[in-house]
Formats: sequence, structure tokens, C-alpha cells
Amino acid sequence: MNIYTSALARCRPTACDTPIYASLARPIARAHYKSSRFCTSSAPKMAAYRQANDWNAEQYSKFLGERTRPALDLLAQIQTERPLRVVDLGCGPGNSTEVLLNRWPDAHITGMDSSPDMVAKAQKTLPQLEFELGDLSTWTPSPGGPVDVYFSNAVFQWIPSEQRLPLVSRFLENQNSGGVFAFQVPDNYLEPSHAMMRETAVDGGPWTAVLKDRQPALAKFQSAQEIYDNLIPLCSSLNIWHTHYYHILDNHEAVVEWVKGTGLRPFIDPLSEENRKGFIQRYLQRLRRVYPVCVDGKVILKYPRLFVVAVRK
Ligand SMILES: C[S@@+](CC[C@H](N)C(=O)[O-])C[C@H]1O[C@@H](n2cnc3c(N)ncnc32)[C@H](O)[C@@H]1O
Repeated sequence: MNIYTSALARCRPTACDTPIYASLARPIARAHYKSSRFCTSSAPKMAAYRQANDWNAEQYSKFLGERTRPALDLLAQIQTERPLRVVDLGCGPGNSTEVLLNRWPDAHITGMDSSPDMVAKAQKTLPQLEFELGDLSTWTPSPGGPVDVYFSNAVFQWIPSEQRLPLVSRFLENQNSGGVFAFQVPDNYLEPSHAMMRETAVDGGPWTAVLKDRQPALAKFQSAQEIYDNLIPLCSSLNIWHTHYYHILDNHEAVVEWVKGTGLRPFIDPLSEENRKGFIQRYLQRLRRVYPVCVDGKVILKYPRLFVVAVRK
């Protein structure tokens, strides 16, 4: 049993109208909404969004099973049986979108993301779906009726702190009664993996001068109460919970490989090749001090995550 199938087995919801929780490894049987946006009109948009340091779908995908598990856990708490329209906000390489497709094979599912590399990977993985390049802070769905389910796995922590909840509210406002906005974010600001990034950034190495006027660390996510107080005026129910995953990694280098695909990027992307190597070396030394080695040589990466399922009033 691989990580997908074991997570799928664990996360099977109690009420479900389609035989959807089959293995993600099986080929997707049905043809869906063939992308027109990505293949045709998105090429100029892609150029506009291309940044010096795009996300790297290959690096991100190194731990794709572990990164997809919270998407399954989030999905398991959504009660919607037959949504017509579903959007995956910040779809990444398409892993979270595939989870949605397996649950709701008859829905019109689209994915959007601001990274050209991620969108290209998602489109290649799921050619039958429609993917769009865009920044979710300004993005709106194309005309075609209200969105029944917005889904967003591990994305909203990248939105500037003060914009996060207003943005969720903006999407919720445009949903019909019963519509769902579900999101999950890592809640690891205080974890050693992230504290050590911040410590390394200011340790006086040659990277400190480069990073001092930037704010490479993502702001801590809002508390459950802040989320509740901001969203409840629009919602008939709010399901908020927190989970700690314990990822068993091969060694400390694997912790670096994990965060290189996500939270370490803003720290090392602005650095020269030489400084990047130096930063990673120093960061690794710190990781060795704060993560003990298990009896079999492995290292446990504790990973707290926060989940929210909001239902529109
Ligand atoms: C950690 S990955 C999550 C990918 C996928 N949803 C998953 O479940 O693994 C975060 C994704 O959010 C995207 N992202 C970050 N900021 C964004 C924004 N403002 N608008 C759209 N996508 C964004 C990134 O490009 C990246 O693909």
C-alpha cells in the first residue's frame, strides 16, 4: 500500500455518492473538460506571470504523497455530494486537483495557480481538465455559474497576512447558499524547521546583508478564533481543526529537500549560487542540532497543519 492508497483508505468519508476513493494510481477513466484556456490563450499570460524564481514542480513533487495527504483529509470533511463546479485554488502540479477529480468525476473541475511550471505540470498530468495561470488575490472564475466548492491545499499561507481572510470572504460572498470554501495551510512557523531558517538568515553569514531588507519568512497563519470571527458572518457552519503529521524522513538532508520545495525558497532564491550553498550548509548544521536521529537513523519531521471547511450561509 503506498502513501496515496493508505491515506485514501483512512480518509474515506462516511457518506459518498460515487465510488471515488479508488487508488490515485489508476488511470482516470473519464474524459472531462479539455483545457482550452491553458493550451491556447494562456501562453501570453504565462509570460506575464513568469518570475525569475518560479516554483519548481519537480522539487515540490519529491514528497508529493506526504503533501497530498492533507488534501485527502480536508476533502473527507466536505459533505457536498454532487457539485457542478469545483475550483482548485493554487493547484500546484495537479496533485490536489486529481484528488478532487477522483471524488467528483462528473463535476466541472478547474485548477488555477500563479506558477507557470506548476500549471504546465498539472496540465500534463491531467490533460482532460482545464488549468489557468493567475494570481488568486485578483483572480475570479470565468462566467458559468457559481462555484460549489473552492478547494485550496497549502496555498493561503503564501498570501500576505492581512489579505488572507478578506480574500476567503470575497470568494465566499460570491457563492450560493450551501457552497463550500475549504482550505488547509501548514502551521509550522514555530517548528524548528522554520525557526532555523530565520535564525540562519540573521546569523551574520554573507546572506544576511541580502536578506535583511526582505521578509523571507511567511507570516504565522491566523488563529482559529480570528478565522472564525472573520468568516462566520458569511457562514452557516465553520469546521476548523488542526493535525500534526509526523513525517519519517531518511535523514536531515531530506528535511532540507522537503523545505527547498516550499518554505526555504524565499530565503535562498535571492542568493547567489555560492551564498545559497553556504546558507543551506549552515541551515543543515542547525537542523542536525534540533532534530534527533531515530534508532534506525531516520529523522522525524513534525508538521502541524490547520484545516477549515466553511459553508456559505
Ligand atoms: C505548496 S504548493 C500546493 C500545491 C497543491 N495545491 C498541493 O496540494 O500540493 C502552493 C502552490 O500555491 C501557488 N501559489 C502561491 N501563491 C499563489 C497565488 N497568489 N495565486 C495562485 N497560486 C499561488 C504556488 O505556485 C504553488 O503551486
